[in-house]
Formats: sequence, C-alpha cells, structure tokens
Amino acid sequence: MALSETDTASGNQNSFVYVVAGLAALNGLLFGFDTGVISGAMLYIKDTFDITVLFGQSIHPSLVEGVIVSGAMVGAIVGAALGGRLADRLGRRRLILIGAVVFFVGSLIMAIAPTTEVLIVGRILDGVGVGFASVVGPLYISEIAPPKIRGSLVALNQLTITSGILIAYIVNYAFSSGGEWRWMLGLGMVPAAILFIGMLFMPESPRWLYEHGDEETARDVLSRIRTEGQIDAELREITETIQSETGGLRDLFQPWIVPMLVVGSGLAIFQQVTGINAVMYYAPRILESTGFGDTNSILATVAIGVVNVIMTAVAVALIDRTGRRPLLLTGLAGMTATLGIAGLVYYLPGLSGGLGVLATGSLMLYVAFFAIGLGPAFWLLISEIYPMEVRGIAMGVVTVLNWAANLLVSLTFLRLVDIISESGTFWLYGILSLIALVFCYRLVPETKGRSLEEIEADLRNTAIGTDPGETDRTDAVQTDD
Ligand code: BGC
Repeated sequence: MALSETDTASGNQNSFVYVVAGLAALNGLLFGFDTGVISGAMLYIKDTFDITVLFGQSIHPSLVEGVIVSGAMVGAIVGAALGGRLADRLGRRRLILIGAVVFFVGSLIMAIAPTTEVLIVGRILDGVGVGFASVVGPLYISEIAPPKIRGSLVALNQLTITSGILIAYIVNYAFSSGGEWRWMLGLGMVPAAILFIGMLFMPESPRWLYEHGDEETARDVLSRIRTEGQIDAELREITETIQSETGGLRDLFQPWIVPMLVVGSGLAIFQQVTGINAVMYYAPRILESTGFGDTNSILATVAIGVVNVIMTAVAVALIDRTGRRPLLLTGLAGMTATLGIAGLVYYLPGLSGGLGVLATGSLMLYVAFFAIGLGPAFWLLISEIYPMEVRGIAMGVVTVLNWAANLLVSLTFLRLVDIISESGTFWLYGILSLIALVFCYRLVPETKGRSLEEIEADLRNTAIGTDPGETDRTDAVQTDD
C-alpha cells in the first residue's frame, strides 16, 4: 500500500507507537532484571541463611542454591503457560498490569524474607510476573505496531531484556560492598511500579478490543496509532484473522505446521542448553574461582552485561539487512569456539592472573556471540514463522519450552560443575552449540524482508511439495537440504 501522502501524519502516529511500545518493552526489563539480579544476591544470601536445610530437610547446598535461582523459572513456566489464555480473556493491558503487580509483590517478599523458604516463594511469584511479561509484552507490542516497523519493535524487547540484566548487575555492584542482597532483590519493585503506572495511561490493544465487540474504542485507539486510511484496512484484516483463528493445541500438529514447530522448539531449547544463563545467573560465582574476589567478579559481570547490551544493539541494527541466518550461524559458530576456549582455560592449573583475565575474556566473547545471534533471533523468529491461525498458541508452547530448558540449565549447572568441573561443563555447552549450529544450518528458514503472509504461503507450498525447484534456503521457507 502506498503511504507516501500520509507520511507526515504517520510520523506523528509512529511517535505515539514508540511511546506505547517503549513502555510495553519495560516487560523485557522485568524479565532481564529478574535474570541478572540473582547472580549478585546469591553470593550474600548464603551468608544470611543456612542453605544446607530446606523445609527441615538437610540438602546439598548447591541444590538449595539452584532452587533459589530456579524458583523464578518455575514461576515463569506457569506464567507463560497461562499468559496467552489470560491475555485473551482479560486483555493485554490488564495482564501487563497484573504481571507488574505480581512482580512487585514477589520483589517485596524477597526483600523482607525471614527464611530461605519465604525467599523461594517470593522468587516464584517474581517468576510468574516474568512469565506473563515474556508472553504478553511481545504480543501487545506486535498488535500495536504498524507492520512496517514491527520487526525492530519486536527486537526492542530483547534489547530491554539485556538492559534489565545490565541494570541488575550494576545494582548488584552498587550494593556488593555491604552485601545488601535485600536491596538488590527489592529494587525490582521500581521497574514494576513504573510499568504499572505507565500502562495505566496506555490503550488496550485495538485487536483485542475489536475481537471483544468494542469496535468504537478499537477505532479510537487505532486513530491514535494509524493514519485515517489504514484504520478500515486494519479492521478488515483483524476480522479475517479472527475468522481464520482456530487456535487449539491440536492445530499445531497439522503436517504443514509441524516443521516450524520443530524449528521453534529447537531454537527454544538450544537458546538455553547452550548455557547462556549459566553465565547470566552464575557469572560472579564462575569468575570468583579465577581469583577475582567477590566485588571484582561482580564488576567483571557488569562488563559482561555491557557487552550483551551493545552486541544486542548491533544485532538489532543488522538483522533486517544481513538476514537472520547469517547472524544466527555466525553467533553459534562463535559460541562453540569461545566455549571450547573457556573450557581449556579452566582446565589449566592455577587459574589466576592472566588466566583469570583470559577466562573472563572468553566468557565475554561467548556472550557477544549469543547476543548477536541466538538471543534476539529466537524471539524474532518465533514471532515470524507461525501462521496466523496458530501464532499465539505456538508462541506460548515454545516460550514454555524455553523457560523449561532455562530451568534445566540453572538447576543443573552447579551440580555439573561439581561432577564434571567447569571445563567439562563449558565443553558440554560447546558441543550443544555445535549441534545447534547444524540444526539451524539445516532447518531454520530465512525470513528477512518477507511479509508474514509470504512466509505462510511458502510454508504451505513446501509442505505439499509444490515449487521445490524455486525454494532455496536464502529466500524461502525450507526445511531441509
Ligand atoms: C533469553 C534469556 C537470557 C537473555 C540473555 C534472552 O533472549 O531468553 O534466557 O537470559 O536472552 O541476554
């Protein structure tokens, strides 16, 4: 559609869209803050509570530590599993508000927790808020965003996730000298409050309003985020989408959708089992063993957070130009190599001085390679590869898988280090990165510059075997060599 004559008006509308999307992206900030803050807090929680006992049972301390870190993932799995359905029933905006409240309460409980058990309850609640946020944030943004800038706005969400992690690391550093872990965890209340207050002034998604019979408000909202000429076209599109939406879990298993279900699930699992959150959650702990000491390890962790944000910004700038596949494959190759090196450095005796710096450097590079590829590419691709008919439910399913794999890594990391050492653990993640590289090389389609409808049409054609000669990996959805 030619939009040139409405470009000025569209500029005004776009700035409001940026405000709405920017605020909604604070959901990513909660996600990221929750992810990053535990690494610093954990170093000191151990000094306050006896972590050899849980619910009166004596337990291996690294398991208790794992449970404290992972409580958030259990909550996030529940939150993500319920999030899609609740967003449909209550509205996107209302669920974001509820998520912010849940997160706020969780952070408060952790800040004042008198026992390990209460701390875990707070962390689970926090996680439920994050689970809601991880589903409803991108969903709301994609429904508010005009098609032309939807890609960059979806990627903005990964940028706020990484910024949230970095802010948490800085908070950790600021409170590390006094070991004030209650402040570290409690400060999560701040972004939650900002999100809550900000969202009170934001509109509900027009798509949701229209779907629930409130055409008048839907038009009203659209008039603030679209030009006059776009409103009717969009309402027509929404009507068509609603009609074609069957949305059941069973619809995911239609033969032409299964290949993309495999791709999304693979990406979700590989995004986690290649170890990113072992570094995000346990970086200070990993670096401590290089002879850095508590405060320096937290400072080095801040540097890792900076690298994560900068390289995510680079990915956001590049991903529509280079395409998803080159970034994804380069990122995975780099992750494999840097994990190999990190394993080697930890294998050498006397890990201090130069070797300590080398260990930190290789972990930084590993994070950089994740940030340029698998980090943003996962969330972007799962919002692109599913047909409208099942997009919500498919995204819900793979998001739950992503959190479950996240849980698996955070629960097992410390035990793995106990059993096969740091080197063995890094090498294991390296081997999984190599498998992920092969998986992505063979199965992940390029979606750059294609409309969602084109992607969907390719998917149908590939599945029924038409047009195979014209299907190649660089410009069409394809599933095999
Ligand atoms: C992942 C998170 C991870 C973060 C790190 C996100 O894409 O889903 O699990 O902590 O990236 O930047």
